[in-house]
Amino acid sequence: MFNVNLRNRVALVTGAGRGIGKAIAQGLSDCGATVAVNDIDPQTAALTAGTLTGDANAYVADVRDSAAVQTMVDQVVADFGRLDILVNNAGVEPKASILEMTDADWRDAIETNLSAAFYTSRSAGRVMKAAGGGVIVNIGSIAGHNIPIALRSGYVASKAGLIGFTRECAREFAAYQIRVNAVCPGVIETEMTAHLRQNAAQMQKWLEDIPQKRLGIPEDVVGLVLFLCSDAARYLTGQAINVDGGKVML
Ligand SMILES: NC(=O)c1ccc[n+]([C@@H]2O[C@H](COP(=O)([O-])OP(=O)(O)OC[C@H]3O[C@@H](n4cnc5c(N)ncnc54)[C@H](O)[C@@H]3O)[C@@H](O)[C@H]2O)c1
Repeated sequence: MFNVNLRNRVALVTGAGRGIGKAIAQGLSDCGATVAVNDIDPQTAALTAGTLTGDANAYVADVRDSAAVQTMVDQVVADFGRLDILVNNAGVEPKASILEMTDADWRDAIETNLSAAFYTSRSAGRVMKAAGGGVIVNIGSIAGHNIPIALRSGYVASKAGLIGFTRECAREFAAYQIRVNAVCPGVIETEMTAHLRQNAAQMQKWLEDIPQKRLGIPEDVVGLVLFLCSDAARYLTGQAINVDGGKVML
């Protein structure tokens, strides 16, 4: 695994109870960071925090709730004294046609995948600004560029918005030495994409379009996140970078 020195840094990863967020939390911990593991699910948050080698705490909060996000960020700073890295990873992918989608599902996608990044960036950004700098990584999706997915309008719209927010946040926060980038995975084997792997025809179609001829695994996303969090990426901000086995070449 790609390794960078993140000792003495404190990182908050949202939705880190399982999947890509869990792998990112593990990677940050392996590089020496203290990790604040957020999830809406208390059990998985505690499990992830418990498996990390370095200092780690679980923080149960719904990232759609801006007051809960503020309380969580305050608690992380109270527990560890600082907050250097924020990874906005929590996400949902409600499935429905536009004609059938409920308001609740649409709002869930927009709130979890987009508004939450605003809430966390606002709360954490204030801490980072006061400390003289920091790093924010937003987990987007190739769906946020121009790769529509069938029956995922809320998801695609929220991820496109997240890329726009990433750029705006990078522009505004550069004055405070806070870098902001998005990592955009292709299809990664997690619970979110379990349905895809159960459909042989759909799987075949996806694989045909991926030059590396395999789906990604959560660990495939981690190296880029660690690089973006490191000082090696000090002149890199406002970018949305795909990690997708070559599926999308912009
Ligand atoms: N798996 C893929 O193929 C893929 C592709 C592109 C982008 N992504 C993105 O990567 C991120 C992680 O996806 P994953 O595949 O690991 O998904 P996952 O469903 O396995 O994990 C998502 C995690 O987020 C948590 N979560 C959901 N809503 C939350 C909330 N309101 N507050 C706090 N935590 C919440 C869940 O409890 C879960 O632990 C998401 O943003 C997703 O959109 C995934």
